[in-house]
Amino acid sequence: MRILGIETSCDETAAAVVEDGRAVHSSVVSSQVDLHARFGGVVPEIASRAHVELITDVVAEALVEAGAELRDLDAVAACHGPGLAGALLVGVSAAKAISLATGLPYVGVNHLEAHLYAAWLEEPDLKPPLAVLLVSGGHTMVVVMEDHACYRVTGQTVDDAAGEAFDKVARFLGLGYPGGPAIDRLARSGDPAAIRFPRAMPGAADFSFAGLKTAVVNHVRREPDAPVADVVASFQEAVVDQLVDKLGAAADAAGAPTLVLGGGVAANSRLRERVAEVAAATGRRALLPPRELCTDNGAMIAAAAWWQLRRAGPTPLDAGTDPNLTLPAVR
Ligand code: KG4
Ligand code: ZN
Repeated sequence: MRILGIETSCDETAAAVVEDGRAVHSSVVSSQVDLHARFGGVVPEIASRAHVELITDVVAEALVEAGAELRDLDAVAACHGPGLAGALLVGVSAAKAISLATGLPYVGVNHLEAHLYAAWLEEPDLKPPLAVLLVSGGHTMVVVMEDHACYRVTGQTVDDAAGEAFDKVARFLGLGYPGGPAIDRLARSGDPAAIRFPRAMPGAADFSFAGLKTAVVNHVRREPDAPVADVVASFQEAVVDQLVDKLGAAADAAGAPTLVLGGGVAANSRLRERVAEVAAATGRRALLPPRELCTDNGAMIAAAAWWQLRRAGPTPLDAGTDPNLTLPAVR
């Protein structure tokens, strides 16, 4: 079964064709980073307008790359939340239009669930339970996936998302947007033990990054001559410590043999290194999907849609979007 997956929840216009929730036939991602960089973050209205301009070409390119036409597909899916209200509408409207014009079933997919299903694109025979750390500019959570469609959020951020903390600290230090990759690069030449920044909420399952961000700002104001590489390496270490500790604790409690990373911050080299270390030290497996599957993409939408279609059937065309959608989970 071949599904076209469309993702427009934030600042990436993306479409992909995936077979049976596992085999990626094409995946096209058009990033709008350049449009938002001068504002230091995503501007929702600019994002929506750019999606409208890009969506037709991105879908067409995904079909061409897959060597498929609409009539070769079995369903069309789009992310219907959570995300930016106007941005979500563009992808969902495109998918519904295709569904109406072709008679293909429409599947509305939860963005967070899609990030979890990206793991099956990397490892088609993956078996739950999994402990997944989902870290992006918008979300920071640990999800224990006990089975398909059975998620338990064991902890989430009480303030900023981890990516947001990277972006805000980078912006304060004048390192540009997005801040994560810039800090990742610069931190390699710094000393992660130079400054002992706070690790928030020790022993708790939830995360907090707002205090850490303030600690960095205060430190730099107090010691303006501190080498920036040391500051960012120490900041990154504090973020990664918090992420890895809570992922490990959740995996212990759930008896999950596999640790999985998802979301844009999963591209962070220090986080990947540390998750691999923790997995090795505790006899677990670390599944670290490549960056293009961790960041927002259409393939994860098509993958999640395949599992959802088999389980629950298509989504009615009169279903809308929900910018505040959460994981259908029992906490
Ligand atoms: O998943 P994503 O592409 O978009 C959403 O937010 O949904 O994640 C973007 C976030 C940004 O905050 C960016 O700074 C962060 O991921 N990021 C990184 C790295 N690459 C991207 N953070 C730390 N290290 C990186 N290498
Ligand atoms: Zn995302």
